[in-house]
Amino acid sequence: MLRFTTAGESHGPALTVVVDGMPAGVPVDRAAIDADLRRRPGGYGRGGRMKIETDTVEITGGVRHGLTIGSPVSLLVRNRDHQNWLDVMSPDPQPEAARERRRLRYPRPGHADLAGALKYGTRDLRNVLERASARETTMRVAAGGLARGLLRAAGVEIRSHVVRIGQAALPAGPAVAWDELDRVEDSPVRCVHADAAGRMVAEIDRAKKDGDTVGGIAEVIARGLPPGLGSFAQWDRRLDGRIAQALMSIHAVKAVALGEGFAGGDTRGSAFHDEILWTARSGVERPTNRAGGLEGGVTNGEELRAAIVVKPIPTLLIALRSVDLATKEPQKASVERSDTCVVPAAGVVAEAMLALVLADALLEKTGGDSLDEVLAHLEATRAQQRALAGPE
Ligand SMILES: Cc1cc2nc3c(=O)[nH]c(=O)nc-3n(C[C@H](O)[C@H](O)[C@H](O)COP(=O)(O)O)c2cc1C
Repeated sequence: MLRFTTAGESHGPALTVVVDGMPAGVPVDRAAIDADLRRRPGGYGRGGRMKIETDTVEITGGVRHGLTIGSPVSLLVRNRDHQNWLDVMSPDPQPEAARERRRLRYPRPGHADLAGALKYGTRDLRNVLERASARETTMRVAAGGLARGLLRAAGVEIRSHVVRIGQAALPAGPAVAWDELDRVEDSPVRCVHADAAGRMVAEIDRAKKDGDTVGGIAEVIARGLPPGLGSFAQWDRRLDGRIAQALMSIHAVKAVALGEGFAGGDTRGSAFHDEILWTARSGVERPTNRAGGLEGGVTNGEELRAAIVVKPIPTLLIALRSVDLATKEPQKASVERSDTCVVPAAGVVAEAMLALVLADALLEKTGGDSLDEVLAHLEATRAQQRALAGPE
């Protein structure tokens, strides 16, 4: 229902996204999108590039007077750093010197350099890294801002927080509650727990001092979702699979868990599943939410919780062994200006990807060409669900 396509290179003139399928009448809050764009390059452990790019969104189609009009929405973010790359990134033919100047020769283990060169047959790895770079996630965050506008109107909010960086993790205990997430944006590592945040910062400092990088885990949470989004009826309509694909597509994400999914392999069923209770005052209730809001690939009315494991990023100052593809001689991997830890930023991107998948699933459930139609159908669905499982 909701599709989006991004385009643009990391050091090209601009990045763009076209979002197709947004109903008419959805509020578009440009300031909120810019605020999300500012959260993406933030977080302790980011590198020099992030100080150059102060991203702001330009709306180039599909919105009038603060509301979508039903046509495709196109958004644009200019790369300020492009001014330093005019000849290197020029779309027009350039003299040899410009072609050689920022050529990347030695593929970085863990990055897309080698696989991309083999795929496209290019000897200049810059052609790969310019698009494989996570700079692309800028436009996912911008598109996610549109999706959040639709979800907000339907009563759905999405937040994220950092659970672990390297060996520093939140203390074991109950899941982080929604209200605790108010503290996230005041933390340099987007972590709700001050002591754990201090240990996370120290992990990043140690990795940076060693010329190394460090990964971690972030959790993304959606609240206010109606039950019944997604379907168990076909494999590709299961919402668990769609969310996992969207989160796994984020650069450096290597594992995705729904709820307490990582614990599912070593916990007995009786300790893992969420019992179903009913009270006259509240209707159906779940005393726990280990499933993370999804059963059978369908939302069950609980908070949707998904965790992502983010690997340590590939560009290392203590470069790993690699090969010069031209001479086949051993070489240390190329070093580009780089971050030390991107876990806090990956959480922000995960919010956007989850918003896009949930907005798509909501539209699939309700249909509708306008926000009013979406909300009317949603209210009818909620009434039906109250009759089935609500209070007396
Ligand atoms: C927000 C964000 C920023 C990133 N910044 C860098 C970076 O500065 N240097 C780097 O080597 N990798 C960085 N990465 C990770 C690479 O983009 C990623 O490892 C690479 O594209 C290969 O994809 P894969 O790790 O998913 O296989 C970043 C990832 C994210 C989510």
